[in-house]
Amino acid sequence: MSKIIISPSILSADFTKLGCEVEAVKKAGAQWVHIDVMDGHFVPNISIGVPVVKSLRKVTDLVLDTHLMIENPEKYIEPFAKAGADILTFHFEACRDAKHVYEIINLIKSFDVRVGLSIKPKTLPESIFEFLDYLDLVLVMTVEPGFGGQIFMHDCAMKIPSIKEKAKNNLIIQVDGGINNLTAKICTSLGANSLVAGSYIYGSDDYKKAIESLF
Ligand code: DX5
Ligand code: ZN
Repeated sequence: MSKIIISPSILSADFTKLGCEVEAVKKAGAQWVHIDVMDGHFVPNISIGVPVVKSLRKVTDLVLDTHLMIENPEKYIEPFAKAGADILTFHFEACRDAKHVYEIINLIKSFDVRVGLSIKPKTLPESIFEFLDYLDLVLVMTVEPGFGGQIFMHDCAMKIPSIKEKAKNNLIIQVDGGINNLTAKICTSLGANSLVAGSYIYGSDDYKKAIESLF
């Protein structure tokens, strides 16, 4: 069985002590930390930006798994890369056409940052097949992006096997939205190998126990 990577989403962390919250999930066994960037246009919510990534880079060696829920992602790749993001995942739906997708993939790679492409619930997995060979990660959203604490959408997880079948072996297939001890297992049994969980981990009073229950 391949290794499952847990990426706690700091969207549900206590922002008054963000550094400690990141340290706490590291101690609890997380290797990555998921940073949700929202612009109020691509999604109806505003969250975290470049300064937070830059600050976190100074205090943690965890992989900064940065999820860009923004329009015109190409404008912000350089600032996020320079701030210290290790992975930059952008949305297929934020792109005009395939050429635009390839341009952003190449831009991210030019900064030596790992590249992820995400699809929203209504986007078919076939839409991104042609890009799979150029990606490090595919993020299958299992809720409509924009908010933490939503209910897992089962149908979305059913996209995982077809992506896995088309993908090269080392592609990371990540799921995000409504992940808890039960939905995690549905996703990993379908082939996901990275789980984002926000409210389930940060809403618990024992982060270690919460993370362990995802395996
Ligand atoms: C939603 C974000 C998620 C969110 C997940 O738009 O992309 O990363 O933090 O939150 P939970 O795990 O609470 O569904
Ligand atoms: Zn996310």
